[in-house]
Order: sequence, then C-alpha cells, then structure tokens
Amino acid sequence: MEEKRSTFSGKLGFVLAAAGSAVGLGNIWRFPYLAAKYGGGIFLLVYLILVVTFGYALMITETAIGRKTGLSPIGAFRKLSKKFTFVGVIAAFVAFLILPYYSVIGGWVLKYLTMYITGGHAAVADGAFFGNYISKPVEPIVWHSIFLLATFIVVVRGIKGGIEKASRIMMPVLVVLAIIIAAYSVTRPGAMEGIKFYLLPNFADFSSQTVLAALGQMFYSMSLAMGIMITYGSYLRKEDDLEQCVSRIEIFDTGIAILAGLMVIPAVFAFSGGKADAVNAGPGLMFQTIPKVFEAMGLSTVIGVLFFALVLFAALTSSISLMEAVVSVICDQWKVSRTKSCVIALILAVVLGIPSSLGFGVWSKISITTASGASMSILDMMDFITNSVLMPITALITSIVVGYVIKPAVISEEVRLSSPFKREWLFLVMTKYIAPICIVAILVSSVLNAFGLITL
Ligand code: PFF
Repeated sequence: MEEKRSTFSGKLGFVLAAAGSAVGLGNIWRFPYLAAKYGGGIFLLVYLILVVTFGYALMITETAIGRKTGLSPIGAFRKLSKKFTFVGVIAAFVAFLILPYYSVIGGWVLKYLTMYITGGHAAVADGAFFGNYISKPVEPIVWHSIFLLATFIVVVRGIKGGIEKASRIMMPVLVVLAIIIAAYSVTRPGAMEGIKFYLLPNFADFSSQTVLAALGQMFYSMSLAMGIMITYGSYLRKEDDLEQCVSRIEIFDTGIAILAGLMVIPAVFAFSGGKADAVNAGPGLMFQTIPKVFEAMGLSTVIGVLFFALVLFAALTSSISLMEAVVSVICDQWKVSRTKSCVIALILAVVLGIPSSLGFGVWSKISITTASGASMSILDMMDFITNSVLMPITALITSIVVGYVIKPAVISEEVRLSSPFKREWLFLVMTKYIAPICIVAILVSSVLNAFGLITL
C-alpha cells in the first residue's frame, strides 16, 4: 500500500501557502522597478489583463494537474503522458536552479534587516554600501546559508506542520505590513505625482516591450512553469473548490504587487530624483534607492525594519515553495525519506548558490557582456536561463500537452470535481490558442534581445 499523501488542512491553508509562494521578491523587488521602467500605469493595466486571462488559465492547469495525479511534476507528467515526462523534469530543474540564487538575494535581505535593527540605517543609505557588501567573499554566503537553513527548518516539518503553519503566520503579517508601509508612503508630501504616474495609464507609453515585460513578470510572480503549483496542487483535497482557490491566490499576489508599487514609486518621486530616478533605478531600486528614500523621509529605522521584515517574509515563503518542489521530486523519484531529501536539497542549494554570490566579487570576471553593453553576472545568467528560457519552454509545452495531447477536458473534469467550472471558456481559448502564441513571442524576443539582435 502506498503511503497516503499529506494534504493541506483545507482551502485556506492551500491558498495561504500558494500565495506565499507567489508573493515574493518578484512582487516587492521586481514589480515596482519594472512598472517604473515600462510606463507606470500602462504596465499595471497590461499586467492586470494578463493575470486574469493567461495567468488564470495556467494556474488552473497546473493545480489541476497536481491534484489529479497526486504527484510532483516529473511523476505528474509521466502519468499524463509518458512521452512528456521530460516537461516535468525541466519544471523540477527550474526550481532546483532558482532556489540557490533566490536565497543569495534572500541573504542580502536578511543582512539589510539586521543592519536596520542594529541601527545601521545611515550606513545602508550610503550609495556604495550595496556594491561593497555583495562583492564580499564570505559574509553574503553566510547570510545565504542562514536564509536557506530557515527555509529548511520549515520544509522539513512537512506540509501541515511546516509549510501551512509558517504561511498562516507570515502571510497575514505580510499583508498588514504592506498596508502600513504603502499608507505611509502615499501620504508623504509630494507623493501624488508618483501615484498618478503609477496608477493612471498613459497610452502613449504602450509598446510591445510593455507586454513582454509584463508577461515574463507574471510567470515569475505567480510561480508558474516551475512545477510549484503542480506540487502544491497535489496536496489539495478533492473537495476543495479549485477555481475559487486560484482566484484568491491571484488576488493576493496581484494585491501585494500593487501595494509594493505604492510603497516604492510615490516615495521615490517625493524623496529622491523624481520620475527619472524611479525609471532608471532598475534592480537597484530596492537595495539602493529605497534606503536613501527612507533616510530622507526620517523615521528610517522603523520603516526600514518594517519594510525589510516584509521583504524577508515574502522571500521566505517563496523559497519554502522552491525547496518543497525540489524535495517532493527527490522523495517521489528516489523514494528517500522527507528528512533526507530536505538535507540533500539544503546542501545542494547552499553549494550551488556560492558561485552566484561570488559572481559579484572575486568571480566577477565570469560574466557575459550582452550586445547592448550590459554585463550579466553569474546570478543574472541563472535568472536569465530560468526565467527567460526554461520557464517559457515549460509553459509552452504544458499548454500544448494540455491543449492537444491529453485534451483540456481532463483538466475541466478535475476542476468540476469540486465546483462548476465557471470560466472554462477562458481556460480553453487561452490554453489552446493564445498562450502558445504569446509564449513563443516572449521566448524568441528575450533570446534575441540577449544576443543583441533586437533591443528591448
Ligand atoms: N513567485 C516568487 C516571487 O514573485 O518572488 C518567486 C518564485 C517563487 C519564483 C517560487 C519561482 C518559484 F518557484
């Protein structure tokens, strides 16, 4: 007899854990700088449309595949169609590649939080702090390992007692912190210009790049195409309303992304170099611009501690899901105990993260210069391979397998086990036609862009 698979205790547990995976550095670090770069309100609008169409269809597909098969991605695809086992392998591999470098960034967040707690706000606000810190050979690796250890401690306790419990505590705190900080930021004098830029779409700023950037961000933010929603779906009970769960996860994820934009963009408009600063900051927005903004606002210790605690919680619940995806594959494939799989995943992630961390310092010579002249560090390369190449490939093949091989009816039946499938038409149109075309567009354009054949 096979051991009975553990499950979440119910809908709320599942929604909080899956939302915990979705809400992460992608929402708080990546979303605001992308929104600022790609036109503010117009980016937000395009993003919202993509979430309720494309994101919805893919998330339904993945959770239903997980619940139907009751297996982690490799086993799940094998069960659906032997020929397509490799899609599960790629999906699991993506999680395995993301976890190490995600934890390097998680380690930076931990360092920032401790700096704020110990009164180091002025040091952090110095423009050179970030670059100096990440290029150190040892300290960032120590924080990276501590971050992974915290992740391990939750995952090793299992689904209900570890992941669900941690999410039940961290997610509500995260929402409260997000609301407090956003409210503080939008009520600062001078914030109105930023709020307008961020919320009111200006159609003149629309371009195909806006759509591509929003699409890539949507995959990443909703933890799609990396086996996570399949894994979490496999722990969802048959009686829990799958469609409603997916809607709630989307509302959670998008709500936090919108709030993150409200925390960051108006504050930069009011306290730093205005629009130009927000638009040009790029990935440094959270680690370089924001500490300066907090310093200028006053109250920087309090707001810095709250903000980086929020980011830490968001990052932890996401890394927990990444480790869970890796652990579930190790358990299912090699029939190893959960504790052993967790130890293996921990050691691998610590070791594999080291090059990404050293890539900013002693190994900085290992980099690729893209045709636009930008230099990609080891961490950027990992990010590019996973987000811009492997994830679109996984999403593309998943849509094709569901649309044309196993047929969408299989997914619809699974959804209907727990409720009527209200938006089935949307799922069908997206999976069979629109998703494959759009994904090919992201894949081709992001690769051409990296090799300098087009400029995004
Ligand atoms: N969705 C997470 C975020 O927005 O930060 C990131 C993430 C989590 C990516 C889990 C990949 C993943 F497997």
